[in-house]
Amino acid sequence: MTALRNKTVYRCTECGAEHPKWAGRCDACGEGNTLAEEVAARAPKAAGRTRPPASVEGTASAPVRLRDVRSARTARLSSGISELDFVLGGGIVPGSMVLVGGEPGIGKSTLLLQVAASLTAAGTEVLYVSGEESPLQVKLRAERLGQADAVQLLCETSLEQILDVATTSRPAVMVVDSIQTTATEELEGAPGNVGQVRECAARLMRFAKSSGATVIVVGHVTKGGGIAGPKTLEHIVDTVLYFEGEGTGDHRILRATKNRFGSVDEIGVFRMTEDGLIGVGNPSALFLGDREGRASGSAITALLEGTRPVLVEVQALAAKAGFGTPQRVATGFDGRRLALLLAVLDKRAGLSFAPLDVFLNVVGGLRMQEPAGDLAVAAALASSVFDQALPSDAVFIGEVGLGGEIRPVTQSERRLAEAAQLGFRTVYLSERGVPRRTPDGLRAVGVGSLGALFKSLFR
Ligand code: TYD
Ligand code: MG
Repeated sequence: MTALRNKTVYRCTECGAEHPKWAGRCDACGEGNTLAEEVAARAPKAAGRTRPPASVEGTASAPVRLRDVRSARTARLSSGISELDFVLGGGIVPGSMVLVGGEPGIGKSTLLLQVAASLTAAGTEVLYVSGEESPLQVKLRAERLGQADAVQLLCETSLEQILDVATTSRPAVMVVDSIQTTATEELEGAPGNVGQVRECAARLMRFAKSSGATVIVVGHVTKGGGIAGPKTLEHIVDTVLYFEGEGTGDHRILRATKNRFGSVDEIGVFRMTEDGLIGVGNPSALFLGDREGRASGSAITALLEGTRPVLVEVQALAAKAGFGTPQRVATGFDGRRLALLLAVLDKRAGLSFAPLDVFLNVVGGLRMQEPAGDLAVAAALASSVFDQALPSDAVFIGEVGLGGEIRPVTQSERRLAEAAQLGFRTVYLSERGVPRRTPDGLRAVGVGSLGALFKSLFR
């Protein structure tokens, strides 16, 4: 086997320099620990520049008129799980490669086994490759989910074997769980290292494009938050879906961070139950805590997740600090943004947090990335300091500027519509962004600054 092995080289992931042997440091750029093994170019490089470049298949490539390219509107395949179809942009695209990333235990294998089961039940050939679990382990999971009996399972870690089986059995969809346990015999590195992950992904991508099968790969997320193989995987594949969620909570958010066939930042919301993952049709209900008798420090905002408006509750607690530096703990919200808002509240609204510990929590494990949530965060913080609850039927939407001014946000109609639908009565937003018409039952209150807002809210 070793004799047949292709020659391999080590390439620096920073500068691209090639090295015949592995080394701890790249000679060319001096970066440490950046060399990754890869297969050396198989054919000798074409000499001279006059020859036309050869494509991968060896045929001379030629330009085509766009009108001659066959219909780009490929029929999509429904995965049988509507939240997943939505995140993908309307279903599975044949011949594409999808990466599903997430921390261990979040539910990647569960979701993909459910997909495999429903596709198989609908008459689509699926090959489920597991390099992580034994057939028995997969069967135990399948029994919990039900309906997975007919799924074709292959427990294998060798890329060559996997591609052999796939080439003969010609599935329409192949799931590879996971890319980190798959290894090619052409590289000496252990499974999961950068070189292996990259080479395996590239070969699976080639398989998808040449066979027309959709390849869905699972990728574990490393501590730093990236999918192993310093982001390189994300560049290779067509679509990247991340599975997020608080480890303790039972709901999960599937987010598209890259999609060549749809819009990014769309989310799908699931609940992990005894019988697997179940799509949540109305995410807002999930992210709103108990509506009745809400305590001080709680505020509601309307965020846009992709094209979907989602109402979210923010909870703040400002409590007298003990000795030492007061604590600032934010869950689901950027810590630096919190520091900035605290400074603005201090300087522009006269609320000093210096002697207080501050805790901020976005309910439901959602990560609030939009500045539209600023106003709710500021209102929640002020509500906690004054120890006065905010009106329970109010929503706060707006970006807070460094001058304490409240700025309008994009697509407020959608946010307002969602708020009205869930029974909210008042929306506080920038006075520059008050819409001419509001949905029935919803009153829009324009505010110019944090100071003015607090004056009208607290006594
Ligand atoms: P899993 O899909 O194995 O996670 P990953 O592949 O991302 O590592 O999910 C594991 C968790 O989900 C585990 O804690 C058990 C739980 N689970 C359920 O709650 N219900 C179910 O029906 C299944 C199959 C798993
Ligand atoms: Mg798994």
